[in-house]
Amino acid sequence: MASADQIKALLKAYSQGDEAQFYSVAMQIAAAEARGGHGKLAEELRELIDKSRSRLPGPGPSPIPLAKPRGEIADLLTISYPRIRMQDLVLASKTKDILARVIREHKIIREIRAHGLVPRKKLLLVGPPGTGKTMTASAIAGELSLPLFVVRLDRLITRFMGETSAKLRLIFDAIAQTRAVYLFDEFDSIGSARALENDVGEIRRVVNSFLQMVEQDASDSIIIAATNHPTILDSALFRRFDDIVKYNLPTTREIEVALKAKLAGARVSNKINWAKLSAAAKGLSYADLTRATGDALKHALIEGRPLSGADLLSSIAERKEALTHGRPQRQS
Ligand SMILES: Nc1ncnc2c1ncn2[C@@H]1O[C@H](COP(=O)(O)OP(=O)(O)O)[C@@H](O)[C@H]1O
Ligand SMILES: [Mg+2]
Repeated sequence: MASADQIKALLKAYSQGDEAQFYSVAMQIAAAEARGGHGKLAEELRELIDKSRSRLPGPGPSPIPLAKPRGEIADLLTISYPRIRMQDLVLASKTKDILARVIREHKIIREIRAHGLVPRKKLLLVGPPGTGKTMTASAIAGELSLPLFVVRLDRLITRFMGETSAKLRLIFDAIAQTRAVYLFDEFDSIGSARALENDVGEIRRVVNSFLQMVEQDASDSIIIAATNHPTILDSALFRRFDDIVKYNLPTTREIEVALKAKLAGARVSNKINWAKLSAAAKGLSYADLTRATGDALKHALIEGRPLSGADLLSSIAERKEALTHGRPQRQS
């Protein structure tokens, strides 16, 4: 059995987010068990430790997955540990290449830094709703086993500009301190918050200070800003990002790939005419396709039979109908 001191040391390392110490104590416990003649337990412990460690990226500054933001900053960031991967995303091959390069550079970040080079780490994702921008941030975090911090813009933006800037500063301090993926989702709302509507000069100042902080950032974290508004690209300011990644509604080919992927593992009729379905779904976003396949599948499950082409066609039609009648779309 682990000693009381070892258990205390484990808990202390956990609460301080000291990952190295946490694993070191865990290894000491395993070693003590081996010495005590509990070879099987020791082996099991080592395996658990290895497995948990291998979730982390190879050499390079490690993230602190045990750390949770505290105090004021906790109010501004939502943390998660995404498990999704790049292969879960259907993307144009050019887009995939850009993202894959970022991931590859971060896997060898220490080597890159050792050569005095800077990894690509500031991404601006632009495209219509439901095309995978938020999901991309999750997938990058998932690939690198880094935590994902989503900045809560609703909390960030206050009617007092000084306060908003101070909060932004806190976030950029966290970015420097804790290596992770930081997502400013729909970040242009920094500039369009209702409370600020009347004071254009002030808004511009906050957006500028955001962009300045992005530019000055020299951390190992990845900063992702996402927006639905392509007009933002007109601004020269946005050239401060390392990569500007464009997202589009899926082509018919991509629709087919996405539909099949979303239905993987489900009981599906083998008589489905995918070409016809994909043509019918043209104009829908990936998020719409996800909902349509989900609805169709639930319908088939309730009826206790394999999913048919007709099920899919009717839920695709339903989504299109919802779009044209401007019913509120659930956003994620
Ligand atoms: N490119 C994509 N490939 C596969 N699924 C996607 C893609 N884009 C969106 N989805 C699906 O739609 C949901 C919402 O997408 P999201 O990333 O939030 O879109 P955005 O941030 O661009 O509005 C995702 O959780 C996923 O189920
Ligand atoms: Mg989004």
